[in-house]
Amino acid sequence: TDIPALKTFLAGDFEIGAAVGRAQLLGNHAQLLNRHFDSITAGNAMKWDATEPTEGTYTWTDADAIVNYARTNGMRLRGHTLVWHNQTPAWVFQNASGGPLTDSAADKAILLTRLENHIRAVAGRYAADVDHWDVANEVIDENQPDGLRRSDWYTIAGLDYLRTAFRVAREVAPNAKLFINDYNTNVTTKRDKLYALVAQLRAEGVPIDGVGHQMHVNIDWPSVSETEAMLHKFIPLGVDQQITEMDVSVYTNGSESLPAIPQERLIKQADRYRDLFALYRRYRDDISSVTLWGLADDDTWLSTFPIARLEAPLLFDTRLQAKPAYWGIVDPS
Ligand code: XIL
Repeated sequence: TDIPALKTFLAGDFEIGAAVGRAQLLGNHAQLLNRHFDSITAGNAMKWDATEPTEGTYTWTDADAIVNYARTNGMRLRGHTLVWHNQTPAWVFQNASGGPLTDSAADKAILLTRLENHIRAVAGRYAADVDHWDVANEVIDENQPDGLRRSDWYTIAGLDYLRTAFRVAREVAPNAKLFINDYNTNVTTKRDKLYALVAQLRAEGVPIDGVGHQMHVNIDWPSVSETEAMLHKFIPLGVDQQITEMDVSVYTNGSESLPAIPQERLIKQADRYRDLFALYRRYRDDISSVTLWGLADDDTWLSTFPIARLEAPLLFDTRLQAKPAYWGIVDPS
């Protein structure tokens, strides 16, 4: 079809990306991907459980397929993610007898060595291909006084897990921009804690180049002004910013489930994409890319999270046709 290519429309503003799995690299999906997007992110293939399911044994099949696709098709690649509390195998936090690692100096050293080995392997392997890494994902918990999520990483190693992760990533992938990525950064308390952490670590010399805002949002939330405050907040740090996982749920709560999505919600969704992309474009000097967490509505994580329900959070429908949401960006009249 000859609808405008998103990447051409947005070329003066920022790169536009999509999270993919191997299903998106074939046939009509690949055509749609190549036509509209500058960059891809592996939705799952580069996570710890996918790449190092048991210690020292790496499985590269899915990640290599995505990296090779990006190479062959001249697309940029965001790496996601090197250290996270989810999708990380249990062995990472266990001692030789299968018990939990503690915060003793010896156990902490074991954990940090595993982290270092993992990042050397994964980020080292793709050093020539990945131009931005989500080194650390979802480390903030705004309900903690110090803002730091009590993950196994933190309780065993304190902030040293972040220092190690960024230092090693910089060493093995010196050409990649290194990001700290989180959700709900539009919420004031959360973004203030993230800001404080990034400011502290950068002051220490930890190589953090950018802040990633996931932007899993919905048709009512958050407001454009809250989202603008999110972008504005980080400007004084002099970091790059990216929108890393955007989707716009047609539901505004976690339990509702409809047999079909009313047209009215698809129109509201189009208005949200229109307004948020207009904002991003105004902040083009601060944002280097915007990534959607999926290619089309036939395959989106929201169809199982937080409950199984029909979802349609993206720009193209289950038949890969442009939705009102797409036209909200390309023809915002
Ligand atoms: C999601 C994937 O899309 C799903 O396929 C998987 O089952 C769970 O993880 N925040 C993140 C992403 O940083 O890694 C998550 O991806 C979505 C929420």
